[in-house]
Amino acid sequence: ASLTDQFRPAFHYTAERNWLNDPNGLVYLNGTYHLFYQHNPFGADWGNMSWGHATSPDLLHWEEQPVAIPCDEQEAIFSGSAVFDEHNTSGLGTAANPPLVAIYTSAYSHASPLAGRQAQSLAYSLDEGRTWTKHQGNPVLDRASADFRDPKVFWYDGGGESYWVMVAVEAVQRQVVLYRSADLKSWEYLSTFGPANATGGVWECPDLFELPVDGNPRDTRWVLVVNINPGGIAGGSAGQYFVGEFDGVAFRSGSTVTEGLQEDGSRMREYGWLDWGRDYYAAVSFSNMPDGRRIMIGWMNNWDYAGSTPTGEWRSAMSLPREVTLTRLDGRVVLRQEAIGYSGEPDAQGFRLGPRAVPPGVVELPASAAAARIDAEFHPGSATAVGLVLHAGDAGRTVLTYDTRQGVLRLDRRESGMTGFHEAFPSVEAVAVPLQDGRLRLRVYLDRCSVEVFAQDGLATITDLVFPTEASTGMAIFAEGEGAQLVALDVVGH
Ligand code: FRU
Repeated sequence: ASLTDQFRPAFHYTAERNWLNDPNGLVYLNGTYHLFYQHNPFGADWGNMSWGHATSPDLLHWEEQPVAIPCDEQEAIFSGSAVFDEHNTSGLGTAANPPLVAIYTSAYSHASPLAGRQAQSLAYSLDEGRTWTKHQGNPVLDRASADFRDPKVFWYDGGGESYWVMVAVEAVQRQVVLYRSADLKSWEYLSTFGPANATGGVWECPDLFELPVDGNPRDTRWVLVVNINPGGIAGGSAGQYFVGEFDGVAFRSGSTVTEGLQEDGSRMREYGWLDWGRDYYAAVSFSNMPDGRRIMIGWMNNWDYAGSTPTGEWRSAMSLPREVTLTRLDGRVVLRQEAIGYSGEPDAQGFRLGPRAVPPGVVELPASAAAARIDAEFHPGSATAVGLVLHAGDAGRTVLTYDTRQGVLRLDRRESGMTGFHEAFPSVEAVAVPLQDGRLRLRVYLDRCSVEVFAQDGLATITDLVFPTEASTGMAIFAEGEGAQLVALDVVGH
C-alpha cells in the first residue's frame, strides 16, 4: 500500500487530503459533534490556514465537511472556539434561529492594513455549521499585538451575573488574558494569568472550565489548560494544566510550582501535564455539551517534526476524544482522562487471557493487530519490569515498559518502524506511575500510526506517533528479572 493508505488511522480523524493541526471550535449541537480544525485546503504542509470541518454523531465516526472558514488575501484563520449563542446575545441570528458563533484569530497578512497583528474575530452560522459568514465588524478584540491568539469562549454563570468569558494568550509573554462580553462583539479586560510553571516555549490554545472533584457538585475546581511549544515535558509541544479557582474575573492557581519566566526545567515533572508523550498538543474542550461532560481533543503531532511525518497525501490526525474529570490523589486534585468512543468494531476479533504467571522473558501472543484496544493488568510482584510489545515485526516494535523499582512507565518508539524522517523523532517517553494495590492497569489504543496509553485508569497518559511497517502487527507481554503475574489481558481488534 502507499504510505497514504498504510498509515491512515482506523479510528482517528484525518482529513481525506492535506494538512491539519489544532482542533478548533469544538461544539455540540442537536445531536451532532462539530470538529473544526486548522487546515490547509491546498497542500500537505502548514499554510493557507483555514477552518476545516468534520461532524460526528458519536465522537468516533467522523464525516469530513466542506471547508468552513477559508483564509483570504487579508487574513489567515487561526485557532479559536465556537459557542451556541442560544439567546442570540450577539444579534447575529434571530431569537427563532440563534447562531453558532466562531471566535477565531485573524492573522493579518501584508495585504491588510492590520498587517503583522493577531486579533480576535467572529464568524457565524445560521444553518448548524454548514455555512459561515464573517462578522462585518471584525476584528472584535485587537490589542495591537503580534501574538494575541487562540480565543476560547464560554458562558460564565456567576449566580448573580452571567456573561461570556474569553481566555486567549499573549503567546510570547507566556500569559493567558481574560476578557468578558455581553454580546461577543465588545470585550472588556478582566485579568492576566502567568507566566507560571512551564514557560520554555510560547503559550498557545488555552482553555478554562469548572469540574467537580470526585463527582461532588459542591466541591468544584477550575482547570486552566495552557498548551506550550516548545518546552513540553517530552520535548517540543505539550499541554499543561493548572487547578485553581475562578471568580468571574481572575484565575488563581493552586498548583503553581514555579512563577515567572526563569525556570531551569528541573521542576518540570511536578507540573500538571495533560499527556507525557510527544504527540498530544493544542488540546481544548467541547462547548455546549448536553450532559455537562468535559471532552477534549488534541492534535496528535508535535511541532518538532510535524512537517516531516511520512503519511503521503494527508498529514496529521486528531487524538481520540478524552473525557476529563478531577480526582483527589495524595492530597492533590488531579486530572483523570478516559478516551471515549472506540470499543472495537462489531465484527472485531477478540482475544482474552485470564490470570496466569508470566515467566521472565517475552511471551508472544497468538493475536495480532495494527489497530486495537488493549487492556492489560499486571501484578509485577518481584519482577524488575513488566510490559507490552506492540506493532512487533522483523522490522521493529514499540515497547511499553513498567520499571517496578523506579515506578516509571516508559514508551519506547526508537525502533518503531520509520523513524529517520526527522532526527527529533526517535524517543523514549516516561511518566511516574505508582502501583495501586501492587497492580498496574494499562489501556492502550493502538492505531496504524499512533499509540495512546492510559495508565491506572487515566491518571497518566502517553501519546506517541509511530510508523510501523505493514507486517508489524505482532503483540507480546514480558517480565524481567523474575516472573510476574498477569491479572488479565483483553484485546479488541479493529
Ligand atoms: C498552535 C498554533 C496556534 C495558532 C495555530 C496556527 O499549534 O500555533 O497558536 O493559532 O497553531 O495554525
